[in-house]
Amino acid sequence: MSHVQAKRLVKRPVRLPLPTAPLGGRYELLAELGAGGMGKVLVARTVGAAGFQRLFAVKVLQKHLADEGDFVTMFLDEARLAARIHHANVVPTLDIGGGPDGHFIVMDYVEGDSLAGLVERSRDIGTRLPMGVALRIVLDALEGLHAAHEVTGDDGQPLHLVHRDVSPDNLLVGVDGVSRLTDFGVARARNRLHTTRDPRCKGKHAYMSPEQILASRDVDRRADVYGMGVLLWECLVGERLFAARKGEPTYERVLREPIREPRSVDPSVPQALSDVVMKALERDRSRRYATAAALAAAIDDAAARSGVAIARPSAVGQLVMEISGDKVYGERRRVRVAIERSRRRAEGATATSDGVPVMLSPWTEEPTADEQALTIDRTSPAPRTRRPVTMTVESPSPFRHSRPPEATTVCSRRRTARMWMVGLGGGVLFASAVAVLVTCLATA
Ligand SMILES: Nc1ncnc2c1ncn2[C@@H]1O[C@H](COP(=O)(O)OP(=O)(O)O)[C@@H](O)[C@H]1O
Ligand SMILES: [Mg+2]
Repeated sequence: MSHVQAKRLVKRPVRLPLPTAPLGGRYELLAELGAGGMGKVLVARTVGAAGFQRLFAVKVLQKHLADEGDFVTMFLDEARLAARIHHANVVPTLDIGGGPDGHFIVMDYVEGDSLAGLVERSRDIGTRLPMGVALRIVLDALEGLHAAHEVTGDDGQPLHLVHRDVSPDNLLVGVDGVSRLTDFGVARARNRLHTTRDPRCKGKHAYMSPEQILASRDVDRRADVYGMGVLLWECLVGERLFAARKGEPTYERVLREPIREPRSVDPSVPQALSDVVMKALERDRSRRYATAAALAAAIDDAAARSGVAIARPSAVGQLVMEISGDKVYGERRRVRVAIERSRRRAEGATATSDGVPVMLSPWTEEPTADEQALTIDRTSPAPRTRRPVTMTVESPSPFRHSRPPEATTVCSRRRTARMWMVGLGGGVLFASAVAVLVTCLATA
């Protein structure tokens, strides 16, 4: 097992069986996507007439947070505001639920990877995002961010929505090559919690504007402009701007450490783009770009002057599959298996005729032809070929087989068990016959 495979194996969350009753009576939970500081995110589906189905991502709040004073109210208030944002570069909030199942937010399911995942996987294979792709992703995010900042209420008055947690985790890059921001306003509710309870908050300081760290009350859209500046710095340079260091709290470094110019770290970054990043990262917010749209315009202009071609969405989508294809295919496979399991349950076929439950592990499915074609070449700077996906997905299940799933059904296991029983019984009979014969001969 390679180092990368071992790392991924360690990171895989423990997956417990999901409840079979639909969440809120409507959303059938299929597979877990991951867990953040607030709870889990799961893929779910709704079904309709004539085989209609639609996939969603559902964020289910951790149960204990429901007891945190006005936290839930605030969380749901923010989610309601976020639901007012309608833009191609923002993950739409489609529904909000609460009740005995707990509180949850329903969003569009984005098939792809987060920017954090893309950057990490690129690093694993010794490469980094091409500049044109990085700029397309950042520009998409800025478009979405600006739309959110401009959102108005029913009375037409601005709502002054601020994301507050612009970070690579919260930027989802789809296989369609479109990047979408998520988790609007979640940070505000999260800040109400004691940060010690949420260790993930610590990691977020690296993208937080100085005024947020100083707990300024009047945080405005320029805090998000700063967050995008950090994101842009990291995409261009291929390193973390404020990587965690032992004994040096990140928030102190954000407030005091001189910010290295991207071009001084990587001379291949054009001067014009380096300058744009530095302006977005001004500690004094009055010196930053005043809006996300102004930052986007400056990036466009700097790229054009530097001769950097901004990638088209199709090129971004292709790169997502090249870098994070194993994640995408793994998720597709898990969803496929969950849907098949649900179908069998609906047909009452969860048990064989003799009552033995059918064992189906998400990890026993064979890869499709597309997945087979995906191989990794870790020696090449631009990953073009990939190892088959099954090689990179380590099974947490003892039932992992290289044979097709049909071969792992209960029927075949029972047939094997029966053969063993017959063999064992025959052996015992033969041994008894020999013993009787020997006793007879001895007494004779
Ligand atoms: N709408 C979505 N579609 C697909 N995946 C999502 C969606 N929202 C969140 N995720 C994924 O779910 C996981 C957990 O998300 P989240 O709880 O927001 O945690 P964090 O932002 O701290 O990583 C992440 O891997 C994230 O990429
Ligand atoms: Mg998030």
